[in-house]
Amino acid sequence: MAHIPAVTKAVIPAAGLGTRFLPATKAVPKEMLPIIDTPTIQLVVEEAVAAGLTDVLMITARGKTAIEDHFDRNLDLEEVLTAKGDEAGLASITASNRMAAMHFVRQGKALGLGHAVLCAAEHVGDEPFAVLLGDDFIDARDPLLKRMLEVRQQYGGSIVALMEVDPEQVSAYGVATIKPTDADDVVAVTDLVEKPAVNEAPSNWIVVGRYVCDPAIFDVLRDTPPGRGGEIQLTDALRTLARTDRAYGANRVNGVNGANGAAADGGGVHGVLFRGRRYDTGKKLEYLQTLIQFACERPDVAPEFVPWLRSYLDSLSPAPSR
Ligand code: UTP
Repeated sequence: MAHIPAVTKAVIPAAGLGTRFLPATKAVPKEMLPIIDTPTIQLVVEEAVAAGLTDVLMITARGKTAIEDHFDRNLDLEEVLTAKGDEAGLASITASNRMAAMHFVRQGKALGLGHAVLCAAEHVGDEPFAVLLGDDFIDARDPLLKRMLEVRQQYGGSIVALMEVDPEQVSAYGVATIKPTDADDVVAVTDLVEKPAVNEAPSNWIVVGRYVCDPAIFDVLRDTPPGRGGEIQLTDALRTLARTDRAYGANRVNGVNGANGAAADGGGVHGVLFRGRRYDTGKKLEYLQTLIQFACERPDVAPEFVPWLRSYLDSLSPAPSR
């Protein structure tokens, strides 16, 4: 079996405008909105590190320096907390700058997720890499990315994460055409369609914000014209790879063959069927739900918060009729 290079790099696009969260995101990056006391993007980096990735490249933009500051040391705070003997506080502020080798590159204009990923080409080079969107995260108890990396190791090519939704919801997402494989939680993706009409959707399995990409994606992205909304879409490039189970472009040679021969020279896309917990904090309602859920589970706040929440909800309910 040909050797498939292991994945060590994570790319986290965080350069979007965050228009759904205005006015909060006028000056504060959407990815910095906290889940109680931890910015969403820190949870995303923790997810990458838990999957064994050691090198993180963030795609940022003008107005996003808070993200770079968060992953840098803050010597003034360190000094104050050390003087106070606040070890827990100190550990909480140094965790983010010790998690992985952090790198940053700017996307000059928000030209779409595909364009943001293309900004990583120089840093990534000719290696497979993971992409984790900066405004959603997967529950640490449901290690999706680790499974995706195993699947990439087995099949080569690129790997997407798929979640099942009700049929009437498909038109808001990228939807996959899928074929079963020998593994219950892995499918071959033969096509992808962005926001199909309900009666034209090829399945109920939508693409969510975790990917393992073959470096062949960069050549495809360079050739991908702007799609929906004038943006270069990652889904469009993945569709090209899904339809291409052999080499993409003439300049890629010596690619790898997956164990099942399913992917060669960078083409081919497989999907991991994910049935765990995902928090899409780029949407107001899901952000709120995530906050409540985490508050109910965190040992430092739950004992006071849960009884308060119960009595608050009771106060909203109409009095039971006699
Ligand atoms: P979204 O489409 O959810 O983010 O992209 P957005 O464009 O910031 O949000 P709205 O729709 O205006 O509210 C998913 C992720 O991809 C990044 C975003 O920062 C987000 O983390 N992204 C998106 C980029 O890095 N560059 C882009 O051009 C677009």
